[in-house]
Amino acid sequence: MPTNRLRVVSLEKVVVEAPHTKSFCFQADLKVNPGQFIMVWIPGVEEVPMALSRIGPVKAITVRNVGNSTEALHRLGEGSRIGFRGPYGNFFDLTREHHLLAAGGTGMASVITAGEALAEAGKKVVTVAGAKTKDELILLERARRCGELFIATDDGSAGYHGHVPDLVSKVLEERRFDGVIACGPEKMLHTLAKVCRQKEVRLQASLERFMRCGIGLCGSCAMDGHFICLDGPIFRGEQLVGLKDFGSYRRDRAGRRVPI
Ligand SMILES: Cc1cc2nc3c(=O)[nH]c(=O)nc-3n(C[C@H](O)[C@H](O)[C@H](O)COP(=O)(O)OP(=O)(O)OC[C@H]3O[C@@H](n4cnc5c(N)ncnc54)[C@H](O)[C@@H]3O)c2cc1C
Ligand code: FES
Repeated sequence: MPTNRLRVVSLEKVVVEAPHTKSFCFQADLKVNPGQFIMVWIPGVEEVPMALSRIGPVKAITVRNVGNSTEALHRLGEGSRIGFRGPYGNFFDLTREHHLLAAGGTGMASVITAGEALAEAGKKVVTVAGAKTKDELILLERARRCGELFIATDDGSAGYHGHVPDLVSKVLEERRFDGVIACGPEKMLHTLAKVCRQKEVRLQASLERFMRCGIGLCGSCAMDGHFICLDGPIFRGEQLVGLKDFGSYRRDRAGRRVPI
């Protein structure tokens, strides 16, 4: 059951994952399923949604510094305190046998726990991880421990020179999977949804939108009649077909519908 109670925890460890990305680890006794998120409160700053990138006894969030709140988080060190509510949202369905993980940038933070749960259950996992450039790839060692790993970079500095959906398409041409589990920039997910439809593979995509309440009250995360916080963040490929805003428009912090 989700809890709206604010918990305050001390950061046990801060790990630099990439030049603009850090993981913040803390102890918290709560049951989390792969793909769920928490609303993180940094004292003096607003709350932000973050996927849990570790869901064992030690929990973690893996944060890219993109603005005010994430900058404030990046200034925190071991022993600093943060608050959080949750976990919230639905979670990845891991009942099938053979999965392809597709992660763009910090999207890896959301899918890695699914990969680890699948690998632990003896299921087959292949990961396609992408980023703009080699230095921005994160959590690769953990992905490698789950199974085979393919890399894509926009600038060709590591692995395949190109985007995650193109590399996923190539992998799907050669192998059969029961499903694709994905998180990353919405444009990437939009293209990936087309690829999965063409190849007739089930897709579960975790969407990231601006959020305020995280519990379906404020409407900040609305997309084509869905609330990402309440109905998602994970949507099946067939739910995304024909949605006008998916991959095209998002809501800014004032609630305006703006192009992505
Ligand atoms: C369910 C969920 C899980 C998420 N998990 C992670 C995670 O594991 N790691 C991580 O680094 N980030 C994650 N995010 C995105 C993260 O919440 C935003 O980057 C953060 O809220 C930005 O806050 P800010 O004040 O630092 O930046 P702002 O000043 O609010 O924004 C800076 C820039 O980031 C863009 N932005 C803001 N919010 C989002 C968003 N939700 N999605 C995409 N772009 C956004 C803005 O449009 C702007 O261009 C997640 C978002 C959601 C909804
Ligand atoms: S964040 Fe308020 S409704 Fe989703």
